[in-house]
Amino acid sequence: MDTRLATALSEVRALLLPYQADVELLPESTTDMLAVRWQGLNENEQLRDLAALKLVKQAETLLINTCPELQQIWHYPQAIPTGKGAWYAVAPILHIPRNGMHLFEIKIENKLYSLLFSRLGMKVTCFNNQCSHLEMPLDHGKVSHGTITCPFHGYQFCLETGNCFNAPGMLVPHAVRVGLQGVEVFL
Ligand code: FES
Repeated sequence: MDTRLATALSEVRALLLPYQADVELLPESTTDMLAVRWQGLNENEQLRDLAALKLVKQAETLLINTCPELQQIWHYPQAIPTGKGAWYAVAPILHIPRNGMHLFEIKIENKLYSLLFSRLGMKVTCFNNQCSHLEMPLDHGKVSHGTITCPFHGYQFCLETGNCFNAPGMLVPHAVRVGLQGVEVFL
């Protein structure tokens, strides 16, 4: 793959060049996962927000088409925000399984957040890892067809809306977005 990857990277660099941007290949890369850091995208006024995202998607497509053995591209997180009330990088979108869930834990100002992420197509949702019945953890629950079943008393929850199918109540949701750093959550 080395030669094909080198070719794809030089094509990606040609794409980025007009914007004074670049891509760096990181040593965390494996045979099926490319770890990259984009340089100059956020600083460039021509490439704010959606334009930058579109360019990265174009570069990703080029890399994956040239090296189809790549299962995912991991974007190195930008500076991790500190304090409460910020977006936090969680994982590359393909780390969030379809018909499964991804447990993510982070401590902010001495408070531990235990969160469950799931994905329906490209839509990602996030809820507290806590059942609405007796607030027990849900991460060992069974997931099937977009529903998670609490391992303690069997209550079932929709992973798209968080609504409980068996009783009034719902899981506590968090805002999620998918950007240059993959999936991010607002806490
Ligand atoms: S704690 Fe989840 S159903 Fe009772």
